[in-house]
Amino acid sequence: MERILVIGTNGQIGSELVEALTEKYGVDNVIAADIGPHSLYGAECYETLDVLDSNRVAQIIDGYGVTQVYQLAALLSVTGEQAPLKAWTLNMNGLLNILEIARERGQAGKPLRVFWPSSIAAFGPHTPTVDTPQLAVMDPTTIYGISKQAGERLCEYYFNKFDVDVRSIRYPGIISHKSPPGGGTTDYAIAIFHAAQRGERYDCYLGPETTLPMIYMPDAIRATIELMEAPADQIRIRSAYNVAGLSFNPRELAQAIKQYFPQFEISYQPDQRQAIADTWPHSLDDTYARADWGWHAGIGLQQLVEDMMANIKAPQCGLHHAA
Ligand code: SER
Repeated sequence: MERILVIGTNGQIGSELVEALTEKYGVDNVIAADIGPHSLYGAECYETLDVLDSNRVAQIIDGYGVTQVYQLAALLSVTGEQAPLKAWTLNMNGLLNILEIARERGQAGKPLRVFWPSSIAAFGPHTPTVDTPQLAVMDPTTIYGISKQAGERLCEYYFNKFDVDVRSIRYPGIISHKSPPGGGTTDYAIAIFHAAQRGERYDCYLGPETTLPMIYMPDAIRATIELMEAPADQIRIRSAYNVAGLSFNPRELAQAIKQYFPQFEISYQPDQRQAIADTWPHSLDDTYARADWGWHAGIGLQQLVEDMMANIKAPQCGLHHAA
């Protein structure tokens, strides 16, 4: 019987992950936690928890008899640049606290499986950009990316040295209609749908040809759970797996949206986020994820756009698009 703690559940991934895990493992076996006083997404079992307070994290793990932890609390690439020390402290110490607890539990015969998200931000300007291989030069330029690269090293270290069963994915930009993104460079790919639904022009902060790896939330959630459920001896990568969803740029996404809203318009005003995006891959080679735990992406651009359009509601009394 698994007991699962998800830390950072008020964020973009956490809210939907709790829903999927609850469906799978039952409401009594999924504990949602975040720093705020209550769940923003109606999680049934919720604990207020600062991941930097390792005593309380350990108490909750013991109290509930937790067997798996998803540690998702982090500052992303854009918010991280506004508060680099805070981003470093949260992103690194949050992970370290969980890895240390897992090490102690493992040594006491109570193994704890850990999931921690890495990111395409762990790559940098000297990484090959097309079909970026699993093993490549990684020279991240943002504090977020640096924390992800260091975190990958820590995960692998704790696995090799202490046998901690930690697993990770280098998430592409995640697109969802339920929960808003939290201060990333890839957020345009969500904001653009909301603008289209409101009948507004979208002023994009990335240039038209800025191709980035992306993934639709249902695929991201499926990848995460499939990785966590795979037998431990199949997991050859203990840093973080490349996982490909799809790749597109703002021009291509706008074109796909125009099929639904022919009058939709996009303009481009690259800002400081362009410099971040320019250091990230265009597409990922996810051979290892496919071979080790059977990953394959299911959702392409057409289906993504269709689903986003169907689920993002136009404002009740606002402007409807003429189309
Ligand atoms: N979506 C994230 C960001 O843009 C990348 O992991 O920061």
